[in-house]
Amino acid sequence: MSNITPAFVIEKKRNGDVLSDSEIQGFIQGITSGEIPDYQATALLMAIFFKGMTLDETVSLTRAMLESGDRFDLSGIPGVKIDKHSTGGVGDKVSLILAPLAVACGLKVPMMAGRGLGHSGGTIDKLEAIPGFNTALSPEEFKRILKDVGTAIIGQTSKIAPADKKLYALRDVTATVPCVPLIVGSILSKKLAEGTEGLILDVKVGNGAFMQNLGAARKLAKTLVQVAKKLGLNCRAALTQMDQPLGCAVGNTLEVIESIAVLRNEKPFDSSCIDLKELTIHLCAQMLEMGRIVKKHQDGRKLALAKLQDGSAWEVFRQMVKAQGGLVSSIDDPSQLPISKRIVEWKSSKKGYIKSINTKAIGELLIEMGGGRKVTSQKIDFGTGFVFKKKVGSSVSPKETLVITYLPENISDGKVKELEAQFFRSIVISAGRHAAPKLILDAGIK
Ligand code: URA
Repeated sequence: MSNITPAFVIEKKRNGDVLSDSEIQGFIQGITSGEIPDYQATALLMAIFFKGMTLDETVSLTRAMLESGDRFDLSGIPGVKIDKHSTGGVGDKVSLILAPLAVACGLKVPMMAGRGLGHSGGTIDKLEAIPGFNTALSPEEFKRILKDVGTAIIGQTSKIAPADKKLYALRDVTATVPCVPLIVGSILSKKLAEGTEGLILDVKVGNGAFMQNLGAARKLAKTLVQVAKKLGLNCRAALTQMDQPLGCAVGNTLEVIESIAVLRNEKPFDSSCIDLKELTIHLCAQMLEMGRIVKKHQDGRKLALAKLQDGSAWEVFRQMVKAQGGLVSSIDDPSQLPISKRIVEWKSSKKGYIKSINTKAIGELLIEMGGGRKVTSQKIDFGTGFVFKKKVGSSVSPKETLVITYLPENISDGKVKELEAQFFRSIVISAGRHAAPKLILDAGIK
């Protein structure tokens, strides 16, 4: 770090000053090499959390994180490569459906996804609920599957944006996740490294998102798009609602089952919730427009719907699972997937309408049930989770089931009571009607 010490950089940011490109570069290099210890890294994270960063600083941070590791060269793979990334929510299993769907519509989708972060779930954890599914492919395997199948979904390797790998884990346990420059650096360093040509961002807003209000989410979306463009990546963002879980399932295996049902044109868990499918079609149409497969959004929607309905998206999903080592028989017959046998239904005690669901609390409850991690080294219990029978705006009667809960199999009855009480604290039922919240709040931040 030459004669600029880590303490100097931390102090400068703590005082609200603007860091230079070389100060940011040096600090990130120090984090990557291990020269800068975690306590100094987290001190800078907290200073950035409170003092923010300018656009130029955020560009420098993102570039430094990108350059901390390797970059895939996908230029030898034919086809237009477009990826999608969500800023994180609860029950957000869109990537599992969208990647194969976009391939069925004519794109290539190179996807580097994350594990759970804070209360939010991660695509990699969900896919690992499929026995044998390998999310740690070598770069050669990743490219081969991308070429042959059209999509491969992998986790971050130690060679791709290693600075983010470290910072992501530190942010997760130091309350520094919901911070615009840190989220931007984290997402875009990975996406630039994976070699995609275009990126659609699903920026979540609401009580289950890292950005809880529209203004903060819009700021995040705009910064993401501006920084991506400055670094040469074609990028668009949508703002979408996260004031309740997306779809009806929350929990790793349950979310895989729900995704399979959508891919097969079946009704997931006999439910009528359509938000998951609607959002997937919307984002797919955005990707198709960006990749110039279609000229108009409406044509993209039609194509995406057709490829879901004719089974071609499902076929791509099967091929991806097979190519990544997953047990295809377990997705053909999802009853083979790991799922808890300890199932309870939690019912309403009153008549009325669901006014609100504290979505973050639901994500935290899943972690409490082993479906997410409290510490980085924790092994996930894939089979726990929730199937929501009622969502915001639904009418409820006494004794009607609100949620079917897949509990950890080895907990005490006392613990079950505690979880149940926690669940009921996160749901508000009131006498007056409530409209279901609007799903897509802004479709086009470019
Ligand atoms: N997804 C990421 O990859 N990083 C973040 O910081 C938030 C969501």
